[in-house]
Amino acid sequence: MQVPARRPGLIDRYGREITYLRISVTDRCDYRCVYCMDPDTRFVPRSQVLSFEEVLTIGAAFVRLGVSKIRVTGGEPLMRKDIVSLLGRLSKLPGLDELVLTTNGSQLARHAAGLKAAGVRRLNVSLDTLDAARFRAITRTGDLADVLDGIETARAAGFERMKINSVILENRNEDEVVPLVRYAIARGMDIAFIEEMPLGEVSDHDRAESFYSNDRIRADLERTFELVPTLETTGGPSRYVRIAGTATRVGFISPHSHNFCGDCNRVRLTAEGRLLLCLGQEHSADLREVVRTHPGDTVRLEAAIRAAMDLKPHGHDFVVGAKPLIFRRMNATGG
Ligand code: 5AD
Ligand code: SF4
Repeated sequence: MQVPARRPGLIDRYGREITYLRISVTDRCDYRCVYCMDPDTRFVPRSQVLSFEEVLTIGAAFVRLGVSKIRVTGGEPLMRKDIVSLLGRLSKLPGLDELVLTTNGSQLARHAAGLKAAGVRRLNVSLDTLDAARFRAITRTGDLADVLDGIETARAAGFERMKINSVILENRNEDEVVPLVRYAIARGMDIAFIEEMPLGEVSDHDRAESFYSNDRIRADLERTFELVPTLETTGGPSRYVRIAGTATRVGFISPHSHNFCGDCNRVRLTAEGRLLLCLGQEHSADLREVVRTHPGDTVRLEAAIRAAMDLKPHGHDFVVGAKPLIFRRMNATGG
């Protein structure tokens, strides 16, 4: 019997299949988190940012090439004017299984119902502390109440299994890992702890001194909870455990302590249309140039995307405490 040939997807030189695209729709943000930006971080001029049409053109090409999941990120994606209309159009791309969004939550209350209606399947909300003064200190500009309100509004709008992303820094919020997990459990949410990554220089702190490893977080949690190992993986840097007796999963995103690159399935599109093949390396392809020089030429665009897969490096070279090799910040990287 003849098995119909599967349309060849995006495969890199190491045999990894790329099925997940993260799209940064803006590098702007209303917060200035100490591990992400400096207070005077400059943003990309608007003329250099992809238009919605360009984002859709590139997103559609990826979906034709086998991408089944798109995450929209920033900066803060809800800062982009009319973002909900873009999300509605992305979610309808034929062949896309899941459209998901990462947000800092500052404007989530206002947008939650619209996001649900636009077809956003799941939300990741960044939350590093449950203390308002600390929240202000970490984000430099943020109000904790806005984010907590955003989370409740999103739950009421029908978002299930939301996920909290927490960056834990020594002497800042390392004593909150248990309260944050309790907060997630009480709401049927998941939580991921992200080790700080050396993306761009930050003036606020020395990253080597503030580094708080996921192994320590895990040990802190084990004093309070029973952690049940799971085999679940998202093909990414997270390793998950479940908190016994609850629906809550805890992810450990651990670029330093554990190498996760072998089963990487993702690439990132920056707000300027640069396709980044690895979070921790500079290998990239300029897709804005392709869509601006040859508008409507889907054959050329697909060829450029396929060719870029050959640039995907085997892995990152993050070293705790080393000077950053990567000068772009998370807000310019797309989470
Ligand atoms: N290292 C680790 N995580 C970071 N984030 C922003 N900058 C960094 C960094 N240098 C986190 C945010 C957000 C997620 C998308 O990325 O806190 O939760
Ligand atoms: Fe904004 Fe996220 Fe960077 Fe904080 S970490 S400044 S919320 S982009």
